[in-house]
Amino acid sequence: MRIIRSPKQMFEVSQKLKKRGCRTGLVPTMGALHKGHLSLIRRAAQENDKVVVSIFVNPIQFGPKEDFRRYPRNLKKDALLCRNENADFIFYPSAALMYPPGFRTQVSVRELSDVLCGAYRPGHFQGVTTVVAKLFNIVMPDTAYFGQKDAQQALIIQRMAKDLDMPVKIRVMPIIREKDGLAMSSRNAYLDSAQREKAAVLYQALNKARESVKSGIADCALLTKRARATIIKNKPRKIDYISIVDMETLEPVKKIKDKALLALAVWFGNTRLIDNVILKR
Ligand code: PAJ
Repeated sequence: MRIIRSPKQMFEVSQKLKKRGCRTGLVPTMGALHKGHLSLIRRAAQENDKVVVSIFVNPIQFGPKEDFRRYPRNLKKDALLCRNENADFIFYPSAALMYPPGFRTQVSVRELSDVLCGAYRPGHFQGVTTVVAKLFNIVMPDTAYFGQKDAQQALIIQRMAKDLDMPVKIRVMPIIREKDGLAMSSRNAYLDSAQREKAAVLYQALNKARESVKSGIADCALLTKRARATIIKNKPRKIDYISIVDMETLEPVKKIKDKALLALAVWFGNTRLIDNVILKR
């Protein structure tokens, strides 16, 4: 496994792979890898000849008061994990090479980027789409792998690839969870043990909603009210949103017809956690 730090060198390697007819899979990450990331890498290794894992804590997707500085970074450990999953390359660029002086361009997916997390993190998804577009151009993957954990992000990237005719297939993989149901996240490391215990309530609330929908409840106001009541019992610091939205447009849904996305963002201490579930009748 090779670690490549320069975008130019990564591009040259990718070009060679393309010429040799290799199918390439890309797994974009910010590092601090856990089993959620590894599930994407594993799938990429199954479906491709070569796998590139990018590790880049992308400064332009963090707000000024967010956790860019304290975001966990551990290349050594990440490299071992990538090698165990049979990744071929880690692309590990510096911010200076990704955003050199004079950089001016932004890729933005209208509307989808302004709701849910976008409403609470202005500019976040523009930062994501801009870096992912760059990664697609540098690595030229046949397939890129994303997690349903970040459902809005996955949808926005699918939209971007389609709208801009990017020749890449987007694969969205299921959420990997801890034993108590908490969605795995690099940010879970910020939680102290009391917060960590309380945070399991998010999955319980999502699960209850899923079961309620299965048993015939379709009223979204009622479903979100119940989810909120469940979560509040564990005293989160703040609830940004608990919303039921259309799976494609992310617009609010009043009544569940076929399926819909229940998504939430909740703070425990200084840690903002997101999670979601697909509600099916
Ligand atoms: P990061 O948070 O490191 O996540 C990288 C990928 O792993 C994302 O596609 C995310 O949805 C997926 N992932 C995270 N936790 C998961 C879990 N518990 N189960 C399944 N998949 C999971 O998302 C980003 O980085 C960045 O925004 C990025 C796309 C790399 C752009 O900078």
